[in-house]
Amino acid sequence: MKLKGIKIGEKISKYPIIQGGMGVGVSGSKLAGNVSKEGGIGIIATADIGYEEPDFEKNPMQANLRAIGKQIDSARKIAPNGILGVNIMVALTNYAEIVKEAVKKEIDLIISGAGLPKELPEYVKGTKTKIAPIISSARAAKLITKLWRTKYDYIPDMIVIEGPEAGGHLGFNAEELQNGTTQNLEEITLEVIEEMKKVEQETGKEIPVVVAGGIFTGKDICKFLKLGAAGVQMATRFVTTIECDASNEFKNAYINSKKEDIQIVKSPVGMPGRAIKNAFIEKVKTERPKIDRCYSCIHTCDVRTTPYCITKALINAVKGNIDEGLIFCGSNAHRLEKIVSVKELIEELVFDAEMCLEN
Ligand SMILES: Cc1cc2nc3c(=O)[nH]c(=O)nc-3n(C[C@H](O)[C@H](O)[C@H](O)COP(=O)(O)O)c2cc1C
Repeated sequence: MKLKGIKIGEKISKYPIIQGGMGVGVSGSKLAGNVSKEGGIGIIATADIGYEEPDFEKNPMQANLRAIGKQIDSARKIAPNGILGVNIMVALTNYAEIVKEAVKKEIDLIISGAGLPKELPEYVKGTKTKIAPIISSARAAKLITKLWRTKYDYIPDMIVIEGPEAGGHLGFNAEELQNGTTQNLEEITLEVIEEMKKVEQETGKEIPVVVAGGIFTGKDICKFLKLGAAGVQMATRFVTTIECDASNEFKNAYINSKKEDIQIVKSPVGMPGRAIKNAFIEKVKTERPKIDRCYSCIHTCDVRTTPYCITKALINAVKGNIDEGLIFCGSNAHRLEKIVSVKELIEELVFDAEMCLEN
């Protein structure tokens, strides 16, 4: 059975696969552009997106705003007809400016999490940009939908569920993540679909539900499609592609990792995160690295009390200074064995998912 794309308003992707946004710099224009070109939906991460701009150290906010336009333009060059999105974390200090800049560039889709994107509809009403909140429970899905409907008369164009096995920041309690006692993704998916069905019936608008976190194979994709999801968002698997914008050292850290290396860590964002055990993680358990400067990147961080500077740690990692970096990853990173092209990866996922749907 052929896979159907995700229908987001008038936009339809070829395949039901979104490549999740990965900051800092892991999913830039090259990865996102190539995913879109191959029929998925590529997502550029906007957190500290300007880290390679020459004035980033002096004026990170301006460098970030400028880089968004540049990254969107270069991804569009790779995939002029594909669906392209950006990931914008609610915790970012200049959230509104970044959203406005992406909308000005006529980005197709904004996916927004690490907090509830309460005001997002305000910036896109009357434009072609579609918006999707990231949530980790049916309760949060219901809450944000109600809020958008009441305040803006806006129904989410799509919902992304991020479960406990995802990479980056996680919307769950750290202890529960460590003990494996969070609600599982299948359960959350069924509950969210049920909630969104009610809204669809009331409003007549379709709300595709996309599922993320630990989805690794075509069979996994098939499982969630069979549960009623419109598609999946995958990030970890896209790290070990040729086109991924991170350094080879970052990609090799995934390939060389073992199951026991993948840990839940504290992040200055105020949410737990998942990352690969390394010298940096060990060091910040007992000492506080000197913070030379604050980039004012997220409003949840206090430079006086933060255990480390997350901007610095993520930039070190993406550039390949692995021992001094925070290597975010999903729970399945240890299963990766080699670097492949985005085309090969998508072909494999689609083939396996279609085979599974036949049965
Ligand atoms: C290296 C890395 C960086 C990430 N950065 C972000 C981010 O900047 N914003 C965000 O909303 N999610 C971020 N995520 C989460 C992904 O977008 C995605 O939803 C999740 O990792 C899916 O699970 P998977 O990695 O098991 O496929 C990140 C994930 C990884 C692995």
